[in-house]
Amino acid sequence: MPKWDKFLSKESSLLKTSEIRDLLKLTEGKNVISFAGGLPDPTTFPAEDIKNITDYVLDNYSSRALQYSATSGIPELRKELVNLSSQRGISNISENNIFVTVGSQEALFMLFNIMVDPKDNIFVETPSYLAALNILRARNPSFHGIPLTEYGPDLDSLENQLKKLASEGKKVKLTYIIPTAQNPGGTTLSLEGRKRLLELASKYDFMIVEDDAYGFLVFDGDSPAPIKALDKEGRVIYTGTFSKILAPGLRLGWIVADEEIIQEVELFKQNVDLHTPSFTQFIAAEAIKRNVIQNNLPRIRELYRKKRDVMLHAMEQYFPKEASWSKPVGGMFVFAWLPQKIDTVKMLSTALNRGVAYVPGSSFYYDYSGRNTMRINFSFPTEEQINNGIKTLGQLVKDEM
Ligand SMILES: Cc1ncc(COP(=O)(O)O)c(C=O)c1O
Repeated sequence: MPKWDKFLSKESSLLKTSEIRDLLKLTEGKNVISFAGGLPDPTTFPAEDIKNITDYVLDNYSSRALQYSATSGIPELRKELVNLSSQRGISNISENNIFVTVGSQEALFMLFNIMVDPKDNIFVETPSYLAALNILRARNPSFHGIPLTEYGPDLDSLENQLKKLASEGKKVKLTYIIPTAQNPGGTTLSLEGRKRLLELASKYDFMIVEDDAYGFLVFDGDSPAPIKALDKEGRVIYTGTFSKILAPGLRLGWIVADEEIIQEVELFKQNVDLHTPSFTQFIAAEAIKRNVIQNNLPRIRELYRKKRDVMLHAMEQYFPKEASWSKPVGGMFVFAWLPQKIDTVKMLSTALNRGVAYVPGSSFYYDYSGRNTMRINFSFPTEEQINNGIKTLGQLVKDEM
């Protein structure tokens, strides 16, 4: 029995450390090829530009950049985020619809905290982003899954479930969705699908939390406009992040939402951390203004497209034909479905012994199903590591069959 347990709140008992995280921690500093993380390739960081901007910010704005600032974000960055949003197709918004956060993780944390009560009916994709699921799990809602197909979430399934819930007199609070280059599935929902989801939200009166972490990182074809761009009712709350397009170490993300929601988030954030660091906000605002992000994006997309191709090619070569996997059009991950008898949670320790790490897919299912799936990252490892690691992993899967 842990010594201080009796002093902890009931809510903190819902925060569990996962055996998987503990296992992966053991690999730190060891000679393991890791497909487990979700790190950008550090060669994509525009360090020289950030250095110049930092000097400029300190020369010109030090009295504000090193000072406390507004909870919703500095005006300069909110203004630039209106511009950046319009480049993703979101128009008809003002600075008042923008709220700056410490990464999009904090955005999701605050949104789910101000919106979700225990037992609320909420929909998530199966699979969905692990860290968002963990925030939601701590809210103790009634989860419902929207199975992911190769074309994105299965909206027929969603509609059937919505009908059923309505017939039982049950209301739905929200749907959390990553419609573009989904993590972990790698899928993108079509424009028609986006319109249909909005119609369903309107008909069954629920909110959509749209996580657009990879919207700027689509490297095959166009990146469809976010659902937020189609939203006329203010039903969609959009989250974006600088982590994949500039640098995650700046810890900057943002929310685009109706002003009423923004005001609630503001009240909540005052309790969390008062405001997002002023200094990094000035840097990000200047980076948008100087087109550092836009100029860097083609290079990032090209690099990840190349690494994705190396990974898919290696999987063709080394994975058994009974396995299948996503062909991501963007983002940083491939998701693989192995024969049913393979349990990727159990297989992980053998994989680590053989020098390769992945995240078992069950972590991405709200109900921990998907025991035969895995998520593998291609943005961080080198091409050589991808080849060698996939060879090892493919052999392991064959040995387990
Ligand atoms: C889908 C998705 N949403 C949100 C995040 C959170 O990222 P950050 O807090 O760095 O913005 C991530 C990070 O990997 C992600 O993959």
